[in-house]
Amino acid sequence: MKKAFIFDLDGVLCFTDKYHYEAWKTVADKLCIPFDESVNDRLRGVSRMESLEIILSLGDKTYSEEEKIKLAEEKNGVYRKLLENMTPSNVSDEVRRTLEELKSRGYKLAVGSSSKNTPLILEKCDLKKYFDAVSDGNNIKHSKPDPEVFLKAAEFLGLGSGDCYIVEDAEAGIDAGKAGGFTTIGIGCAARYEKTDICINTFKDILQTAV
Ligand code: BG6
Ligand code: MG
Repeated sequence: MKKAFIFDLDGVLCFTDKYHYEAWKTVADKLCIPFDESVNDRLRGVSRMESLEIILSLGDKTYSEEEKIKLAEEKNGVYRKLLENMTPSNVSDEVRRTLEELKSRGYKLAVGSSSKNTPLILEKCDLKKYFDAVSDGNNIKHSKPDPEVFLKAAEFLGLGSGDCYIVEDAEAGIDAGKAGGFTTIGIGCAARYEKTDICINTFKDILQTAV
């Protein structure tokens, strides 16, 4: 029996993905690069700089390292302004009740997110109290699909990857989980991905896994 759940943040626990979309769109529009939901889906789970590279590859100009850093900072500035509007009401009762139920069943819970803004989001949404460990973009060198963020989360919990489920909405996150030897649970986009071990429709379906 597994001992823990490691949750992706954006698109799983809360819906910051719409803010990522809005912030990247501001940058892409300025550069006259086409940007829509299908491009945004390719950025799920991917680090800020790698996301920027994907967007720039859709245009025809080349950019210096300094220009890229400025563009990424600009995106993050817009994104953090949007995050300021977040409150605990941005996390559904379904998510909160499921996390509480998992804790009461004795599971350890962790966050495994590529985002460097994880601490701000957890604070704004009053989510930190549910988790025994947080591994995020601030403690890793390689972003998903590399397994580092999840392996670190398991290490922070004092567990091995065989003890933990990963809950993800991104294909890159499922690939990261599989590469690290975890059992993966996919929701949203990741529930339609052929490599996902367990596909769920809605967050509380996790409870059927954790019997
Ligand atoms: C992930 C998101 O959680 O974090 C990605 O799914 C995002 O879309 C990545 O690019 C990095 O986020 P941040 O907050 O460090 O720019
Ligand atoms: Mg995600």
